[in-house]
Amino acid sequence: MIRVARIRGTGAYLPERVLTNQDLEQMVDTSDEWIVTRTGMKERRLAGPDEFTSGMGAKAAQRAIEDAGLVADDIDFILVATLTPDYLFPSTACLIQQLLGAKKAASLDIQAACTGYLYALSLAKSFIESGAYRHILVVAAEKLSSITNYKDRSTCVLFGDGASACVVSSEGEGLAIQSVRLGSDGEQAELLIQPAGGCRLPASAETVANDQHFIRMAGNEVFKHAVRRMESACKECIDAAQIDELDISWVVPHQANIRIIDAIAKRFKHLPSERVYKTVQKYGNTSASSVGIALHELRKEQSLQEGEKILLTAFGAGLTWGAALLQAQR
Ligand code: UT7
Repeated sequence: MIRVARIRGTGAYLPERVLTNQDLEQMVDTSDEWIVTRTGMKERRLAGPDEFTSGMGAKAAQRAIEDAGLVADDIDFILVATLTPDYLFPSTACLIQQLLGAKKAASLDIQAACTGYLYALSLAKSFIESGAYRHILVVAAEKLSSITNYKDRSTCVLFGDGASACVVSSEGEGLAIQSVRLGSDGEQAELLIQPAGGCRLPASAETVANDQHFIRMAGNEVFKHAVRRMESACKECIDAAQIDELDISWVVPHQANIRIIDAIAKRFKHLPSERVYKTVQKYGNTSASSVGIALHELRKEQSLQEGEKILLTAFGAGLTWGAALLQAQR
């Protein structure tokens, strides 16, 4: 029996507080003009002091479960992609399982930085196709503000908080996951890193004084890898699905920088620029959550027609990257 894994419901959650470029001008030596021209970002969202990755993830998850026409008890497995877990352990997936009351579900965190949503989707697809499970909840949630240095202008303008989720099922209407391609390169691990807090550099007065619990990024280098890796992941994914590039009607890329998105878009010459979906201007870079938030908003804004193909692509620390091809089906 051939089982087709499909995204049957999606959800997202963005915290209320808005951090504008004008707010950032008051915090570091930057300007609205620099941020807009170099990144395309105008605003991003910030979680409140009592709002955490698990809670934001659970809200997005609840919406995805409702959108799928299911209840929490139907969920067999919860996969959570995050680089800002509530704790190093236990997993954020277990905390979300409790918040949802998903009593039958197994729970697991995935660490693939900004590519986490696609890594989780790939696992969910395999679990469904193997027949092991029927309904898998994929959650991507980040409280990046908790590891952002608001004194470092080269990173603090980029990141925002938020969550996304989807239910991957073996039955029902939705977006069939046709192919997924993933990659990684640990040689470049230091280009984008939170140096302290793990076993190599446990928290100490020194690590705090040296700002080693914040995100550090070699922006320029990361930028070049991002374009190259997402382009090749897209190509591999399209080839694996044995379709033509011209068959794709939407591209939903990781929302790290409008210039990276535009570079990817150039590859899809047949697509008008509005078909390369963007949320970067209003939410900034929400790491693992970003592709899922954009996919959810695309589904709510557009009524996707039977057969329409959507290409997701992402890139992040690790380095990690990937692409996934979806097809709308009833
Ligand atoms: O999600 C994971 C993947 N992340 C990414 O893919 C992000 C990839 N990197 C980027 O998006 C870009 O590299 C950044 C947006 C981070 C930086 O843009 P850039 O065009 O690469 O700028 P740069 O780092 O080369 O810096 C250019 C100048 C520097 O000044 P000097 O040395 O030329 O005098 C920076 O100090 O811009 C300066 N600068 C800023 N100026 C005003 C850096 N940040 C700011 C700022 N405001 N916020």
